[in-house]
Amino acid sequence: MARHLITSALPYINGIKHLGNMVGSMLPADVYARYLRQRGHDVLYICATDEHGTPAELAAKDAGQSVDAFCAEQHDAQKAIYDGFGLAFDHFGRSSSPENVELTQHFARKLHENGFIEERAIRQVYSNADERFLPDRYIVGTCPHCGYDKARGDQCENCTRVLDPTDLIDARSAISGSSDLEVRETKHLFLLQSKLQGEVEKFIDEAGEEWPTLASSIARKWLTEGLHDRAITRDLDWGVPVPADVWPDLAAEGKVFYVWFDAPIEYIGSTKEWADVDPENRDWKSWWYEADDVRYTEFMAKDNVPFHSVMFPATQLGTREPWKKVDFLKAFNWLNYYGGKFSTSQRRGIFTDAALELLPADYWRYFLIANAPESDDTSFTWELFSSSVNKDLADTLGNFVNRVLSFSRKRFGDEVPAGAEAGEAEAKLGEDIARLLAEYEGHMEALQFRKAAASLRALWSTGNSYLEEKAPWLEIKTDKDAAALTLRTAMNLIHLYSVISEPFIPSSAKAMRGAFTLTDDTALWITPDEARSLSAVPAGTPFTVPPVLFAKITEDDLAAYKERFGGEE
Ligand code: 2FM
Ligand code: ZN
Repeated sequence: MARHLITSALPYINGIKHLGNMVGSMLPADVYARYLRQRGHDVLYICATDEHGTPAELAAKDAGQSVDAFCAEQHDAQKAIYDGFGLAFDHFGRSSSPENVELTQHFARKLHENGFIEERAIRQVYSNADERFLPDRYIVGTCPHCGYDKARGDQCENCTRVLDPTDLIDARSAISGSSDLEVRETKHLFLLQSKLQGEVEKFIDEAGEEWPTLASSIARKWLTEGLHDRAITRDLDWGVPVPADVWPDLAAEGKVFYVWFDAPIEYIGSTKEWADVDPENRDWKSWWYEADDVRYTEFMAKDNVPFHSVMFPATQLGTREPWKKVDFLKAFNWLNYYGGKFSTSQRRGIFTDAALELLPADYWRYFLIANAPESDDTSFTWELFSSSVNKDLADTLGNFVNRVLSFSRKRFGDEVPAGAEAGEAEAKLGEDIARLLAEYEGHMEALQFRKAAASLRALWSTGNSYLEEKAPWLEIKTDKDAAALTLRTAMNLIHLYSVISEPFIPSSAKAMRGAFTLTDDTALWITPDEARSLSAVPAGTPFTVPPVLFAKITEDDLAAYKERFGGEE
C-alpha cells in the first residue's frame, strides 16, 4: 500500500467549465484516484476553485455582485456539478481560504528570507476613472500596425502583433471605457526565478524523466528559453495581501499576490482546509512536508504545464523547505468541438451543467476518457459521442447485463442457477479475461487512459463473444445444466465488470454490483488471477434485474443535440 497525493488543475471561478476543461484535468484525476483507492492505496485527491485575479473581479462586476459573494456562489455551483459528475474529491477547496492566505504569505516570507524576492519599480498604466492600475489586456485601443480598433494592450488579435499598452492609439480602459489614463511608476515584488534556473533544471532532469513527453518537452522548452524574473504582485482589491510585516509600503498600497503565485499553493492550502475539518484524524503536513513516502501526481491541460513543471517547483525550491514536489505530471492536449475550440467566452461547445441536464454522468465520463486527448488533440462530435454510447455502453455492456439477468430470471428464477462444472469454454474465457485484465491494470498504472478504456471495452466484448458462442437460449432446449453454467459464468462476468468499471462509470458499476446479494462482497478489486476462475458469485446467490443501464441515443436525439449546440464549424 502506497500513499498517493493527486491534484487536478484548479478551475477558474469565473463561470461554469466546458467538457474540454473536464477531460483535461478533473475527470482523469478522478478515474485514477478511484482506481488507486480500489487497489487499496491511501489516496488523497485534492482540488479547489481558483478564485483570484482580474477575470474573477470582472465577472463579479458583470454579475453585479461583490467579488466574495460571487466567488462563494460560483464555488457552490461548480461543486454541485462536479458532484453530479461523480468526482470523488477528498476535498474541493477555495484558493481564497484563510489557509491559503496563510500559506501563500509563508511562501513569500521564506522566498524573501532566502533572497529570491526583490522589490522593483515599474511603469504601469493607471486609470483615473477606475481608480486602479490596468493590466495590459484591460487596455484597448487602435493597433498602430493594422488599424484594428479593438486591439488589446498586450496583443492585437487582428494582426497578432505583440504590443505594449503605450503603442495603442486612442487607448482606453476596457473596464470603464475611459480614456483618462496615465503612466505611473509603482513598486512590485519580483520572484527571482533566474537564480533558481540550475536547481529547476536538476529537478526536471530527475523527475521529468518519467513524465509523458508532452509534459517534459514543454518543461524543457521553458528551461531552454531561460527562467525570467517575474512580477508576483498586482494592484487589485481581491487577492492574498502582501504581508505588512515584510513589505509595509506595498501592503499599505493594497498590493496582492498575482493569482498564479497563490493558485498552486492552494493545492497545499486545500489539503489544510481538508485537515482543518477534522484535525484530530487528518494530518495535512504528512502529505506535503518531508513526505518522501508520498507519490504526487498532477493532472492538467498543456497550457498549465509551464507553471506546474517549472514555476511552482522554483517557488517550492526557493523556500529552502522540504515541500513535496510533483513526481508525475500528466498533461493533456485539447479536446476540440468539431475541430474548433471549445470557448467559454463565446459559449461554444458543451458546458458541464448542460451535459448533465442531457444525460447521466457515466455517459460523459466514459466517452471523454475513452477519447481523452492524450497523444494529440481530439474532437468532440455528436456522431462520435452517440456511436460510442450506443455501441460500447448500450450494446456491449448494458445489453449483456440485461440480457443475461432477464433470461436467467425467466428460466431459473431469482437466484444464480446451479448445474454443470466449468468446461473448456470457461477455461478459455478465464484465460482471456485474466490477460485483458492484466493489460487494463498495466495501462491504468501507466496513466494511459485511452488504452485502459480500450482494454475495458475488450473485456466487455469478451462476455458477448462467450454468450454468442454458448447461446444459452439454445442450450436451454436440450441441456438445462449447460445453460445454467453459461448464465452463472456470465453473471460472474457482470460482477467482475461492476468492480473493474468503477473508475470509469461509478454509478452504473454500483447498479451492476447491487444486482447481486452476496454474503461477502467486500473485495475492492479483483486481480487477474482471481478473475480467472470466474467464481466470485456462486450458485444460489439471489439477484435482481436492474433497470436498463444505458439508453440508446436515437437519430432524433442526435438531430436535436446538433440543432441545440451547433454541429459543424
Ligand atoms: O488554467 C486554469 O484554469 C487555472 N485556473 C489553473 C490553475 S492550476 C493551479 F496552479 F492552481
Ligand atoms: Zn493589428
